[in-house]
Amino acid sequence: MRFVDIIVKKREGLALTTEEINYWIKAYVDGKIPEYQVSALLMAIVLNGMDARETSDLTMAMMHSGDVIDLGGIDGIKVDKHSTGGVGDKTSLALGPMVAACGGKLAKMSGRGLGHTGGTLDKLESISGFNCYLTKDAFIKQVNDIGLAIIGQTGDMVPADKKLYALRDVTGTVDSLPLIASSIMSKKLAAGSEVIALDVKYGSGAFMKTPEDAVRLGQTMIDIGTSLGRKVCAMVTDMDEPLGNAIGNALEVREAIDTLCGRGPEDFTRLCLTAGVHMLVQAGLARDAADAEAKLTRSIESGAAFEKLKAMVKAQGGDVCQIENPELLPKSVYITEMTSREDGHIAHMEAMRLGTLAMKIGAGRETMEDKILPGTGIVLCAKVGSRIERGQVLAWIYHDQPLQPDWVEEFYGSYTFSEQAVCRKPLIYKVLDGGARA
Ligand code: URA
Repeated sequence: MRFVDIIVKKREGLALTTEEINYWIKAYVDGKIPEYQVSALLMAIVLNGMDARETSDLTMAMMHSGDVIDLGGIDGIKVDKHSTGGVGDKTSLALGPMVAACGGKLAKMSGRGLGHTGGTLDKLESISGFNCYLTKDAFIKQVNDIGLAIIGQTGDMVPADKKLYALRDVTGTVDSLPLIASSIMSKKLAAGSEVIALDVKYGSGAFMKTPEDAVRLGQTMIDIGTSLGRKVCAMVTDMDEPLGNAIGNALEVREAIDTLCGRGPEDFTRLCLTAGVHMLVQAGLARDAADAEAKLTRSIESGAAFEKLKAMVKAQGGDVCQIENPELLPKSVYITEMTSREDGHIAHMEAMRLGTLAMKIGAGRETMEDKILPGTGIVLCAKVGSRIERGQVLAWIYHDQPLQPDWVEEFYGSYTFSEQAVCRKPLIYKVLDGGARA
Protein backbone atom coordinates (compact mmCIF):
# COMPACT_ATOMS: atom_id res chain seq x y z
CA MET A 1 0.00 0.00 0.00
CA ARG A 2 1.40 3.42 -0.92
CA PHE A 3 0.41 6.15 1.54
CA VAL A 4 0.33 8.77 -1.22
CA ASP A 5 -2.52 6.85 -2.90
CA ILE A 6 -4.52 7.08 0.35
CA ILE A 7 -3.95 10.84 0.46
CA VAL A 8 -5.04 11.24 -3.19
CA LYS A 9 -8.14 9.10 -2.61
CA LYS A 10 -9.28 11.28 0.28
CA ARG A 11 -8.36 14.43 -1.63
CA GLU A 12 -10.78 13.24 -4.34
CA GLY A 13 -13.50 12.88 -1.70
CA LEU A 14 -13.62 9.07 -1.74
CA ALA A 15 -14.12 6.87 1.32
CA LEU A 16 -11.07 5.02 2.67
CA THR A 17 -11.38 1.27 3.26
CA THR A 18 -10.98 -0.33 6.69
CA GLU A 19 -7.63 -1.77 5.55
CA GLU A 20 -6.37 1.64 4.45
CA ILE A 21 -7.34 3.23 7.78
CA ASN A 22 -5.75 0.39 9.78
CA TYR A 23 -2.58 0.65 7.68
CA TRP A 24 -2.42 4.44 8.22
CA ILE A 25 -2.74 4.27 12.01
CA LYS A 26 -0.40 1.30 12.53
CA ALA A 27 2.31 2.58 10.21
CA TYR A 28 2.10 6.09 11.69
CA VAL A 29 2.41 4.86 15.29
CA ASP A 30 5.33 2.65 14.20
CA GLY A 31 7.07 5.72 12.76
CA LYS A 32 6.88 4.44 9.17
CA ILE A 33 4.96 7.38 7.66
CA PRO A 34 6.41 10.90 7.78
CA GLU A 35 4.43 13.65 9.49
CA TYR A 36 4.18 15.68 6.26
CA GLN A 37 2.21 12.89 4.59
CA VAL A 38 -0.09 12.41 7.58
CA SER A 39 -0.62 16.20 7.68
CA ALA A 40 -1.73 16.11 4.05
CA LEU A 41 -4.20 13.31 4.78
CA LEU A 42 -5.55 15.13 7.85
CA MET A 43 -6.16 18.26 5.78
CA ALA A 44 -7.95 16.20 3.12
CA ILE A 45 -10.17 14.77 5.90
CA VAL A 46 -10.87 18.28 7.26
CA LEU A 47 -11.95 19.37 3.76
CA ASN A 48 -13.78 16.25 2.57
CA GLY A 49 -14.92 14.57 5.79
CA MET A 50 -15.42 10.89 6.55
CA ASP A 51 -18.59 8.82 6.50
CA ALA A 52 -19.94 6.96 9.54
CA ARG A 53 -18.15 3.70 8.66
CA GLU A 54 -14.80 5.41 8.15
CA THR A 55 -15.19 7.37 11.42
CA SER A 56 -15.98 4.17 13.29
CA ASP A 57 -13.01 2.36 11.66
CA LEU A 58 -10.69 5.22 12.56
CA THR A 59 -11.93 5.12 16.17
CA MET A 60 -11.31 1.37 16.41
CA ALA A 61 -7.85 1.61 14.82
CA MET A 62 -6.87 4.36 17.27
CA MET A 63 -8.39 2.57 20.27
CA HIS A 64 -6.35 -0.57 19.48
CA SER A 65 -3.12 1.35 18.85
CA GLY A 66 -2.18 0.85 22.54
CA ASP A 67 -3.41 -0.58 25.84
CA VAL A 68 -7.14 -1.18 26.30
CA ILE A 69 -8.18 -1.20 29.96
CA ASP A 70 -10.12 -4.19 31.22
CA LEU A 71 -12.42 -3.05 34.01
CA GLY A 72 -13.85 -6.56 34.40
CA GLY A 73 -12.46 -6.67 37.97
CA ILE A 74 -14.91 -3.97 39.06
CA ASP A 75 -18.28 -5.22 40.33
CA GLY A 76 -21.28 -3.35 38.98
CA ILE A 77 -21.90 -1.08 36.02
CA LYS A 78 -18.92 1.10 35.15
CA VAL A 79 -19.84 4.66 34.23
CA ASP A 80 -17.71 7.40 32.75
CA LYS A 81 -18.17 10.95 31.57
CA HIS A 82 -16.35 13.21 29.20
CA SER A 83 -16.59 16.88 28.43
CA THR A 84 -15.28 18.29 25.18
CA GLY A 85 -13.65 20.98 27.29
CA GLY A 86 -14.64 24.34 28.61
CA VAL A 87 -14.01 27.14 31.04
CA GLY A 88 -14.93 26.54 34.68
CA ASP A 89 -15.86 22.95 33.92
CA LYS A 90 -15.43 21.13 37.20
CA THR A 91 -18.26 18.67 36.53
CA SER A 92 -16.31 15.46 37.27
CA LEU A 93 -15.47 16.69 40.78
CA ALA A 94 -19.13 16.96 41.77
CA LEU A 95 -20.85 14.53 39.43
CA GLY A 96 -18.46 11.63 40.20
CA PRO A 97 -19.24 11.61 43.95
CA MET A 98 -22.99 12.10 43.29
CA VAL A 99 -23.18 9.12 40.94
CA ALA A 100 -20.98 6.98 43.21
CA ALA A 101 -23.28 7.80 46.15
CA CYS A 102 -26.17 6.41 44.06
CA GLY A 103 -24.41 3.12 43.34
CA GLY A 104 -22.53 3.92 40.11
CA LYS A 105 -18.92 2.83 39.65
CA LEU A 106 -17.00 5.76 38.21
CA ALA A 107 -13.60 4.63 36.93
CA LYS A 108 -12.40 7.80 35.30
CA MET A 109 -9.22 8.75 33.52
CA SER A 110 -8.82 12.46 33.10
CA GLY A 111 -6.42 14.90 31.52
CA ARG A 112 -4.63 18.15 32.20
CA GLY A 113 -5.59 21.62 31.12
CA LEU A 114 -4.10 23.32 28.09
CA GLY A 115 -4.82 26.79 26.75
CA HIS A 116 -8.14 28.28 27.83
CA THR A 117 -9.59 25.01 29.18
CA GLY A 118 -8.82 23.52 32.57
CA GLY A 119 -8.09 19.87 33.37
CA THR A 120 -9.54 17.70 36.11
CA LEU A 121 -6.12 16.39 37.21
CA ASP A 122 -4.80 19.91 37.79
CA LYS A 123 -7.88 20.73 39.85
CA LEU A 124 -7.48 17.61 41.99
CA GLU A 125 -3.77 18.27 42.47
CA SER A 126 -4.59 21.59 44.12
CA ILE A 127 -5.55 19.36 47.09
CA SER A 128 -2.32 18.74 49.04
CA GLY A 129 -0.94 15.24 48.54
CA PHE A 130 -3.56 14.14 45.97
CA ASN A 131 -2.09 11.34 43.85
CA CYS A 132 -3.41 11.12 40.28
CA TYR A 133 -1.25 8.14 39.35
CA LEU A 134 -2.45 4.79 40.71
CA THR A 135 -1.47 1.37 39.43
CA LYS A 136 -4.21 -0.40 37.53
CA ASP A 137 -4.79 -2.77 40.47
CA ALA A 138 -5.04 0.09 42.96
CA PHE A 139 -7.42 1.92 40.59
CA ILE A 140 -9.72 -1.10 40.34
CA LYS A 141 -9.57 -1.77 44.07
CA GLN A 142 -10.47 1.83 44.89
CA VAL A 143 -13.47 1.81 42.53
CA ASN A 144 -14.64 -1.46 44.09
CA ASP A 145 -14.16 -0.10 47.62
CA ILE A 146 -15.67 3.37 47.36
CA GLY A 147 -17.28 3.63 43.93
CA LEU A 148 -14.97 6.17 42.35
CA ALA A 149 -11.45 7.01 41.33
CA ILE A 150 -10.18 9.77 39.06
CA ILE A 151 -6.67 9.27 37.74
CA GLY A 152 -4.35 10.16 34.85
CA GLN A 153 -3.94 7.66 32.04
CA THR A 154 -2.24 4.41 32.98
CA GLY A 155 0.00 2.53 30.58
CA ASP A 156 0.25 3.42 26.93
CA MET A 157 -3.33 4.14 25.95
CA VAL A 158 -4.23 5.36 22.46
CA PRO A 159 -0.72 6.42 21.36
CA ALA A 160 -2.16 7.15 17.91
CA ASP A 161 -4.24 9.98 19.40
CA LYS A 162 -1.26 11.45 21.24
CA LYS A 163 0.71 11.68 17.98
CA LEU A 164 -2.21 12.74 15.82
CA TYR A 165 -3.50 15.36 18.26
CA ALA A 166 -0.06 16.99 18.52
CA LEU A 167 0.16 17.06 14.72
CA ARG A 168 -3.39 18.41 14.29
CA ASP A 169 -2.63 21.16 16.77
CA VAL A 170 0.14 22.58 14.56
CA THR A 171 -1.36 21.90 11.13
CA GLY A 172 -4.75 23.60 11.47
CA THR A 173 -6.57 20.26 11.44
CA VAL A 174 -8.24 20.14 14.84
CA ASP A 175 -11.62 21.35 13.57
CA SER A 176 -13.01 18.25 11.93
CA LEU A 177 -16.01 16.34 13.20
CA PRO A 178 -14.73 12.81 12.35
CA LEU A 179 -11.27 13.62 13.76
CA ILE A 180 -12.68 15.04 17.01
CA ALA A 181 -15.24 12.23 17.41
CA SER A 182 -12.67 9.46 16.81
CA SER A 183 -10.11 11.14 19.07
CA ILE A 184 -12.53 11.39 22.00
CA MET A 185 -14.27 8.05 21.54
CA SER A 186 -11.06 6.04 21.03
CA LYS A 187 -9.93 7.20 24.49
CA LYS A 188 -13.31 6.64 26.14
CA LEU A 189 -13.67 3.16 24.64
CA ALA A 190 -10.10 2.20 25.59
CA ALA A 191 -10.90 3.28 29.17
CA GLY A 192 -13.42 0.46 29.36
CA SER A 193 -16.69 1.81 30.86
CA GLU A 194 -20.10 0.51 29.83
CA VAL A 195 -22.02 3.77 30.25
CA ILE A 196 -20.57 7.00 28.87
CA ALA A 197 -22.10 10.45 29.37
CA LEU A 198 -20.73 13.06 26.99
CA ASP A 199 -20.98 16.80 27.51
CA VAL A 200 -20.56 18.39 24.10
CA LYS A 201 -19.96 22.10 24.48
CA TYR A 202 -20.75 24.76 21.93
CA GLY A 203 -20.06 28.50 21.92
CA SER A 204 -17.14 30.89 22.10
CA GLY A 205 -15.21 28.74 24.59
CA ALA A 206 -15.70 25.45 22.72
CA PHE A 207 -14.51 23.57 19.62
CA MET A 208 -18.03 23.57 18.20
CA LYS A 209 -19.28 27.08 17.67
CA THR A 210 -22.98 26.31 17.03
CA PRO A 211 -25.45 23.99 18.81
CA GLU A 212 -26.22 22.31 15.47
CA ASP A 213 -22.56 21.31 15.01
CA ALA A 214 -22.42 20.13 18.63
CA VAL A 215 -25.51 17.97 18.03
CA ARG A 216 -23.83 16.41 14.98
CA LEU A 217 -20.68 15.69 16.99
CA GLY A 218 -22.71 14.25 19.88
CA GLN A 219 -24.74 12.03 17.56
CA THR A 220 -21.60 10.78 15.79
CA MET A 221 -20.02 9.82 19.11
CA ILE A 222 -23.22 8.11 20.27
CA ASP A 223 -23.32 6.10 17.04
CA ILE A 224 -19.70 5.00 17.47
CA GLY A 225 -20.24 3.97 21.11
CA THR A 226 -23.54 2.17 20.62
CA SER A 227 -22.18 0.24 17.63
CA LEU A 228 -19.69 -1.22 20.13
CA GLY A 229 -22.34 -2.10 22.71
CA ARG A 230 -21.82 0.89 25.03
CA LYS A 231 -24.66 3.03 26.36
CA VAL A 232 -23.86 6.59 25.41
CA CYS A 233 -25.75 9.84 25.90
CA ALA A 234 -24.67 13.33 24.97
CA MET A 235 -25.71 16.62 26.51
CA VAL A 236 -25.25 19.59 24.22
CA THR A 237 -24.47 22.54 26.48
CA ASP A 238 -23.64 26.22 26.20
CA MET A 239 -20.04 27.36 26.61
CA ASP A 240 -20.47 30.98 25.54
CA GLU A 241 -20.15 31.92 29.19
CA PRO A 242 -18.12 29.99 31.80
CA LEU A 243 -19.80 27.15 33.70
CA GLY A 244 -20.62 28.06 37.29
CA ASN A 245 -18.74 30.95 38.85
CA ALA A 246 -15.23 29.71 39.57
CA ILE A 247 -12.39 29.43 37.02
CA GLY A 248 -9.10 28.11 38.45
CA ASN A 249 -8.02 24.98 40.21
CA ALA A 250 -8.47 25.35 43.99
CA LEU A 251 -11.34 27.78 43.33
CA GLU A 252 -13.13 25.11 41.30
CA VAL A 253 -12.54 22.42 43.93
CA ARG A 254 -14.19 24.77 46.38
CA GLU A 255 -17.16 25.29 44.06
CA ALA A 256 -17.52 21.53 43.61
CA ILE A 257 -17.54 21.16 47.43
CA ASP A 258 -20.19 23.89 47.68
CA THR A 259 -22.26 22.04 45.08
CA LEU A 260 -22.00 18.76 46.97
CA CYS A 261 -23.12 20.61 50.08
CA GLY A 262 -26.20 21.96 48.28
CA ARG A 263 -25.05 25.56 47.81
CA GLY A 264 -23.52 25.41 44.34
CA PRO A 265 -24.34 27.73 41.44
CA GLU A 266 -27.68 26.93 39.86
CA ASP A 267 -26.34 26.32 36.30
CA PHE A 268 -23.56 24.00 37.43
CA THR A 269 -25.83 22.07 39.81
CA ARG A 270 -28.39 21.58 37.01
CA LEU A 271 -25.71 20.27 34.65
CA CYS A 272 -24.50 17.73 37.23
CA LEU A 273 -28.07 16.59 37.92
CA THR A 274 -28.88 16.22 34.21
CA ALA A 275 -25.73 14.23 33.46
CA GLY A 276 -26.27 12.13 36.60
CA VAL A 277 -29.88 11.34 35.66
CA HIS A 278 -28.81 9.93 32.30
CA MET A 279 -25.94 7.98 33.82
CA LEU A 280 -28.12 6.38 36.51
CA VAL A 281 -30.94 5.51 34.08
CA GLN A 282 -28.56 4.07 31.48
CA ALA A 283 -26.74 2.10 34.18
CA GLY A 284 -30.06 0.67 35.40
CA LEU A 285 -29.57 2.29 38.83
CA ALA A 286 -32.82 4.26 38.60
CA ARG A 287 -36.25 3.40 37.20
CA ASP A 288 -36.64 6.61 35.25
CA ALA A 289 -35.50 10.22 35.13
CA ALA A 290 -37.66 11.29 38.09
CA ASP A 291 -36.35 8.45 40.25
CA ALA A 292 -32.75 9.25 39.24
CA GLU A 293 -33.13 12.95 40.00
CA ALA A 294 -34.66 12.16 43.41
CA LYS A 295 -31.73 9.83 44.22
CA LEU A 296 -29.13 12.39 43.14
CA THR A 297 -30.82 15.19 45.08
CA ARG A 298 -30.95 12.95 48.13
CA SER A 299 -27.23 12.18 47.73
CA ILE A 300 -26.57 15.89 48.20
CA GLU A 301 -29.10 16.50 50.98
CA SER A 302 -27.98 13.50 53.01
CA GLY A 303 -24.28 14.38 52.66
CA ALA A 304 -23.59 11.00 51.01
CA ALA A 305 -22.11 12.57 47.87
CA PHE A 306 -19.85 14.84 49.92
CA GLU A 307 -18.67 11.79 51.89
CA LYS A 308 -17.78 10.10 48.57
CA LEU A 309 -15.58 13.05 47.60
CA LYS A 310 -13.84 12.86 50.96
CA ALA A 311 -13.39 9.09 50.59
CA MET A 312 -11.81 9.52 47.14
CA VAL A 313 -9.47 12.28 48.35
CA LYS A 314 -8.44 10.16 51.33
CA ALA A 315 -7.90 7.03 49.21
CA GLN A 316 -5.72 9.00 46.78
CA GLY A 317 -3.55 10.51 49.51
CA GLY A 318 -5.11 13.99 49.56
CA ASP A 319 -5.64 16.17 52.62
CA VAL A 320 -9.26 15.58 53.67
CA CYS A 321 -9.09 18.56 56.06
CA GLN A 322 -9.00 20.81 52.98
CA ILE A 323 -12.27 19.28 51.79
CA GLU A 324 -13.90 19.64 55.21
CA ASN A 325 -12.60 23.18 55.49
CA PRO A 326 -11.97 24.67 52.00
CA GLU A 327 -10.34 27.72 53.63
CA LEU A 328 -7.30 25.44 53.89
CA LEU A 329 -7.04 24.97 50.10
CA PRO A 330 -4.23 26.91 48.37
CA LYS A 331 -4.87 30.65 48.27
CA SER A 332 -3.60 33.34 45.94
CA VAL A 333 -1.41 36.16 47.24
CA TYR A 334 -3.82 38.88 46.10
CA ILE A 335 -7.57 39.18 45.50
CA THR A 336 -8.70 42.12 43.35
CA GLU A 337 -12.33 43.20 43.10
CA MET A 338 -13.31 43.98 39.51
CA THR A 339 -16.11 46.52 39.41
CA SER A 340 -18.25 47.37 36.41
CA ARG A 341 -17.27 50.35 34.29
CA GLU A 342 -20.81 50.70 32.97
CA ASP A 343 -24.51 50.31 33.72
CA GLY A 344 -26.61 47.75 31.87
CA HIS A 345 -27.44 44.09 31.46
CA ILE A 346 -24.65 41.62 30.78
CA ALA A 347 -25.41 40.54 27.22
CA HIS A 348 -22.39 38.36 26.61
CA MET A 349 -19.29 37.05 28.39
CA GLU A 350 -16.64 35.46 26.22
CA ALA A 351 -15.71 32.20 27.89
CA MET A 352 -12.65 31.77 25.67
CA ARG A 353 -11.22 35.17 26.66
CA LEU A 354 -11.92 34.68 30.36
CA GLY A 355 -10.39 31.18 30.22
CA THR A 356 -7.31 32.52 28.44
CA LEU A 357 -7.05 35.31 31.00
CA ALA A 358 -7.26 32.79 33.86
CA MET A 359 -4.48 30.83 32.13
CA LYS A 360 -2.26 33.93 31.90
CA ILE A 361 -2.85 34.72 35.57
CA GLY A 362 -1.53 31.25 36.44
CA ALA A 363 -4.58 28.97 36.58
CA GLY A 364 -3.70 27.22 33.31
CA ARG A 365 -0.80 26.50 31.03
CA GLU A 366 0.10 27.70 27.57
CA THR A 367 2.47 24.78 26.99
CA MET A 368 2.53 21.43 28.78
CA GLU A 369 5.73 22.52 30.59
CA ASP A 370 4.15 25.57 32.30
CA LYS A 371 3.62 25.42 36.05
CA ILE A 372 0.18 26.05 37.51
CA LEU A 373 -0.43 28.40 40.43
CA PRO A 374 -3.23 26.50 42.20
CA GLY A 375 -4.86 29.35 44.11
CA THR A 376 -5.19 31.70 41.13
CA GLY A 377 -8.16 32.33 38.86
CA ILE A 378 -11.37 34.29 38.56
CA VAL A 379 -14.64 34.07 40.48
CA LEU A 380 -17.63 35.62 38.74
CA CYS A 381 -20.44 37.10 40.77
CA ALA A 382 -22.70 38.03 37.85
CA LYS A 383 -23.57 36.08 34.72
CA VAL A 384 -25.32 36.82 31.43
CA GLY A 385 -28.69 38.49 31.98
CA SER A 386 -27.74 40.20 35.27
CA ARG A 387 -28.61 43.88 35.65
CA ILE A 388 -25.43 45.71 36.74
CA GLU A 389 -24.85 49.23 38.05
CA ARG A 390 -21.58 51.04 37.39
CA GLY A 391 -19.24 50.27 40.33
CA GLN A 392 -20.96 46.99 41.16
CA VAL A 393 -18.65 43.97 41.56
CA LEU A 394 -18.52 41.75 38.48
CA ALA A 395 -15.85 39.32 39.66
CA TRP A 396 -12.75 38.81 41.78
CA ILE A 397 -9.37 38.05 40.28
CA TYR A 398 -7.16 35.80 42.42
CA HIS A 399 -3.52 36.36 41.53
CA ASP A 400 0.00 35.69 42.83
CA GLN A 401 1.74 38.45 40.86
CA PRO A 402 0.76 42.11 40.91
CA LEU A 403 -2.22 42.81 38.65
CA GLN A 404 -1.10 43.51 35.05
CA PRO A 405 -2.81 46.28 33.02
CA ASP A 406 -3.34 43.92 30.06
CA TRP A 407 -5.21 41.46 32.35
CA VAL A 408 -7.55 44.26 33.37
CA GLU A 409 -8.25 45.24 29.74
CA GLU A 410 -8.75 41.61 28.76
CA PHE A 411 -11.18 41.16 31.63
CA TYR A 412 -13.37 44.12 30.67
CA GLY A 413 -13.04 43.25 26.96
CA SER A 414 -14.71 39.90 27.66
CA TYR A 415 -18.00 41.56 28.60
CA THR A 416 -20.68 43.10 26.39
CA PHE A 417 -23.45 45.13 28.03
CA SER A 418 -26.87 45.98 26.69
CA GLU A 419 -29.36 48.62 27.77
CA GLN A 420 -32.21 46.21 27.13
CA ALA A 421 -33.01 43.27 29.38
CA VAL A 422 -31.24 40.12 28.18
CA CYS A 423 -32.77 36.69 28.16
CA ARG A 424 -30.24 34.08 29.21
CA LYS A 425 -29.88 31.06 26.90
CA PRO A 426 -30.65 27.72 28.53
CA LEU A 427 -27.44 25.97 29.61
CA ILE A 428 -28.61 22.64 28.24
CA TYR A 429 -29.62 22.90 24.59
CA LYS A 430 -30.49 19.25 24.12
CA VAL A 431 -29.83 15.78 25.50
CA LEU A 432 -29.25 13.06 22.92
CA ASP A 433 -29.92 9.66 24.37
CA GLY A 434 -28.34 6.69 22.61
CA GLY A 435 -30.99 4.45 24.12
CA ALA A 436 -28.87 1.34 23.49
CA ARG A 437 -29.04 -1.45 26.02
CA ALA A 438 -25.81 -3.37 26.49
N1 URA B 1 -10.76 16.60 22.63
C1 URA B 1 -10.10 15.51 22.23
O1 URA B 1 -9.78 14.63 23.03
N2 URA B 1 -9.83 15.38 20.92
C2 URA B 1 -10.16 16.31 19.99
O2 URA B 1 -9.88 16.13 18.82
C3 URA B 1 -10.84 17.46 20.44
C4 URA B 1 -11.14 17.56 21.78
